[in-house]
Amino acid sequence: MIRFLLNNELITLDSVRADVTVLQWLRERRLKTGTKEGCGSGDCGACTVVLASVVVDDATNTKTLCYESINSCITFIGSLHAKQLITVEDLAEGDKLHPVQHAMVEEHGSQCGFCTPGFIMSMFALYHNHQAAQFSGFSEPVLAHLVDRHLGGNLCRCTGYAPIKRAAIKALNNIEPDQFIHREHETINALQSIEQQLPMHPRFLLPGSIEELASMRVQYPKAKLLAGGTDLALEVTQQFNDIDAIICIKQVPQLLAVSVDEQRISFGAALSLNQCMRTLRQTIPSSEAMMLRFGSEQVRNQGTIGGNIANASPIGDLPPLLLALNAELELHGSQGVRTLNINEYFLDYKKTALAADEFLRAVHIPVPDNSTQVFVHKISKRLDDDISAVCGVFCLSMQDNTITQARVAFGGMAAVPARASAVEHVLQGEQFNEATVAEAIAALSDDFQPISDARASAHYRMRVAANLLKRCWLQVTVSDAAVQVGDYVGG
Ligand SMILES: Cc1cc2nc3c(=O)[nH]c(=O)nc-3n(C[C@H](O)[C@H](O)[C@H](O)COP(=O)(O)OP(=O)(O)OC[C@H]3O[C@@H](n4cnc5c(N)ncnc54)[C@H](O)[C@@H]3O)c2cc1C
Ligand code: FES
Ligand code: FES
Repeated sequence: MIRFLLNNELITLDSVRADVTVLQWLRERRLKTGTKEGCGSGDCGACTVVLASVVVDDATNTKTLCYESINSCITFIGSLHAKQLITVEDLAEGDKLHPVQHAMVEEHGSQCGFCTPGFIMSMFALYHNHQAAQFSGFSEPVLAHLVDRHLGGNLCRCTGYAPIKRAAIKALNNIEPDQFIHREHETINALQSIEQQLPMHPRFLLPGSIEELASMRVQYPKAKLLAGGTDLALEVTQQFNDIDAIICIKQVPQLLAVSVDEQRISFGAALSLNQCMRTLRQTIPSSEAMMLRFGSEQVRNQGTIGGNIANASPIGDLPPLLLALNAELELHGSQGVRTLNINEYFLDYKKTALAADEFLRAVHIPVPDNSTQVFVHKISKRLDDDISAVCGVFCLSMQDNTITQARVAFGGMAAVPARASAVEHVLQGEQFNEATVAEAIAALSDDFQPISDARASAHYRMRVAANLLKRCWLQVTVSDAAVQVGDYVGG
């Protein structure tokens, strides 16, 4: 049985197929057609809805609601368990538009209107998150960046973005408590009472502990593991496959844990990309620019660190970062838990060292010491919501300009994300100067023979990898080197 709130209505589903998407359910079963279908693959944002879930502050035991935008076309219905689903139909109170809708009308932010519900929902999520941001001292100059970041996953083909951005900024400058804030206490109580009931759907399994997950993995060997679904759901919406049974790992507390000490950062495998980014940027600030360009806000809210590693795409963005940082993976199987260096994890195209009965449990990242600089560069055709052609990460420890240790990793250069061992060998023990960089560039062809595909040619990939090495050297030697084409300010 899957239970959630559709705005304020308690929904109980016990016979729905496991692979029905939220978008299908809304439009076909509930006839709520305000939420649109554009691409069906998470790329356009027309189907954006907002999920509210209860967050408990451990120190004060205060409960609040966290509002996150997601793409309903790539979210399976069972993922809604114990959450509040808010759609565009829920925002207005009778004839009174929600402030984000009102601002959109005033700024003429809509023409054909197809994309508008999606934009409105992304703005609504930001409107709620911005309330918290204001309290942590966020200033006006970052507003435009926040809007870019939160609306980067929404495409409009006719209005143009300027009026939409103006509408978002206007709404954020005039925040007032809306009906959702007024009902927050009531919603939290309703969601918590659902949480206490055991979900028991025969095909959408929601283990509540790591032990339960491990035993379900053995008991249902054919069931697909689901985290955020931003890769898995495409098997249904793009390849038209059926998924008969799903084990969703998003409610296993151990997989949602974060811990940070002086030695290492540990992430549970089911933590969202946005949750990981917020922690990682404190220790490795250079990771933030890349993480903010990972998909869109919707994808970062849904997708997980474990999903990105397990999916084993050669152009996944986190693997090069984790390879260069020398991360350890914790794998949990029927024989117990084992730890594996991520360098031993990717075996061949989409083939990993994960055994059939295993799942990724945690990722441990050693904290780089003070002599180490981490350079993270994602190269894609667009700044927002685009997959990398090449992603290069360089972790260089230096003393008096001598490279004492080099870990260099690339995505997009081979069938798997991989370390560039020949390049590392050249760099290690040498002065970081133009001659060393030239030698390292020459060594790139010992490490990689990339392929040409729709995203980039082999020649382009080699050229970019070489230029990224040069870029790192410029970053170290020229203090004001302009190495970024675009930038975001954190928030
Ligand atoms: C519009 C769009 C944009 C995207 N942009 C980017 C991008 O910029 N960069 C990028 O790298 N990727 C991108 N992706 C891909 C995707 O978002 C990421 O790979 C994401 O991290 C996947 O996480 P998930 O939780 O959604 O995985 P899921 O789809 O839930 O799972 C992916 C695979 O991993 C398995 N799995 C999940 N968790 C575990 C676990 N703990 N243990 C074992 N197996 C597990 C699942 O069974 C499945 O086979 C994009 C996807 C979309 C739709
Ligand atoms: S329909 Fe395009 S993102 Fe969902
Ligand atoms: S208003 Fe027509 S697509 Fe945006």
